[in-house]
Amino acid sequence: MTVLPTLFASQAQHDLPLHEQLVRTLRAAILAGHLPLHSRLPASRPLARDLGVSRSTVELAYGRLEAEGYLVRKMGAGSFVALAAVRPAPRQAQSAAGLSRRGQEMADGGACHDVPEVGASFASSQPDPRLFPQALWGRLMQQQWRQRAGDWMNYGDPQGLGELRAAISSYLVQSRGVVCEPDQILILTSSQQGILLATQLLIDAGDTVWVEDPGYPGARTAMESAGARVHPVPVDEEGLQPAGAHPRPRLIYCTPAHQYPLGVPMSLSRRMALLAEAERHGAWILEDDYDGEYQYDQRPLPALQGLDGQGRVLYVGTFSKVLFGSLRLAYLVLPRPLMAAFSRARAAVDGHSNQFQQAVTADFIRGGHFATHLRQSRLVYQSRRDLLLAELAEHCPALTPIHSGAGLQCAVQLPPGGEARWTAIANARGLGLRPLHQFHLAVPEREGWLLGFASLDNQTLRQLCRRLGQLMRTV
Ligand SMILES: Cc1ncc(COP(=O)(O)O)c(C=O)c1O
Repeated sequence: MTVLPTLFASQAQHDLPLHEQLVRTLRAAILAGHLPLHSRLPASRPLARDLGVSRSTVELAYGRLEAEGYLVRKMGAGSFVALAAVRPAPRQAQSAAGLSRRGQEMADGGACHDVPEVGASFASSQPDPRLFPQALWGRLMQQQWRQRAGDWMNYGDPQGLGELRAAISSYLVQSRGVVCEPDQILILTSSQQGILLATQLLIDAGDTVWVEDPGYPGARTAMESAGARVHPVPVDEEGLQPAGAHPRPRLIYCTPAHQYPLGVPMSLSRRMALLAEAERHGAWILEDDYDGEYQYDQRPLPALQGLDGQGRVLYVGTFSKVLFGSLRLAYLVLPRPLMAAFSRARAAVDGHSNQFQQAVTADFIRGGHFATHLRQSRLVYQSRRDLLLAELAEHCPALTPIHSGAGLQCAVQLPPGGEARWTAIANARGLGLRPLHQFHLAVPEREGWLLGFASLDNQTLRQLCRRLGQLMRTV
């Protein structure tokens, strides 16, 4: 508990009333794991003395946090934390295991929030494996193995298989507005690997990296483990807001096609402003286009990379959402001067991606099956998105979708105080809600959930929305 006076002093916002400052400090401490679930808070009198505020200020703050579901107050026993942290504070036992500081950062940070089981709750933002042409994929694998097994048993080029690079390049040019040629493509195991490589190669310890807030925790972990100063930049309805009093960045990480997790596409004027800002600071931009293929209501804007006349944008894409997650194939599109270094670094990390799966994926794209699969799966996901919105409007009218025009998941906003109150109860009943505060670095202004819908069939989707509505009405 001794951490509270320090946190309170370091987070002081003098334009706010004292009780409001204390509410924010305590909320942030709970979310960050400084105050673990079920831990007892200091009684109001000693805490008021330690913080140099009146006892009624502490009482007011505790009362607010109880109403919001962060605390429970038990007569005669005290006040207890009622919400589990999203990013638990480092545990002493882990630190004692002899990990490096970098290793500890990586172990504490975590990456992808996806769950292994799909199709059962709102927790997954993975595609529906039932929509994937499994038999066709099996035939392509057999063909490749019959014809070229010997080739696929040898080590391969760290940059990736030429035929896959050519297939990806023409797809990106035609469909995503990326300007590139096959020699600018580096095949990877995952976009997470691309983020990690870009961070390792472009960032020195102590350099500032801008990340979207809220944003993708996997990117943050990669950057923190490289010793970067991760600077949160707020997101509004046009995407990341580059204007403002931000420290000079060396790298800017963003998700312009479909902001993770809020879903907003970055407007064209914001894209131009971001490129100008990167140029002014001499910074790199890492554009993560993780599921931008699934746009339902309007044609996607061209990739930031395609608007960049300066060679500052690195574009990372993945097959995890458009084919299947365990394929472990992704790619970086690099400004030419970076390719040799990235290719050598990629070889130093893990050699190269699986040759055989690269060849099958190239056949899948070149044979037109990728375009067909995207078209068909997009239609199904769009109808599931429509059903989700209709069911939420009927059963959960307190929820407001933030942006639902794209992707495999949809962020919804909640009335204040609802997130902490409902999440734990709903998740104990298997609904798999991901609270938006999980994705924030700064104390969140808004509350809500990220709801994965793409892998849910209509019946499951209806049941989940009804159960959620019932719970919100009764708890
Ligand atoms: C924003 C974002 N980037 C990257 C990824 C990870 O993709 P991959 O499986 O290729 O590492 C995810 C996964 O959900 C994501 O949400």
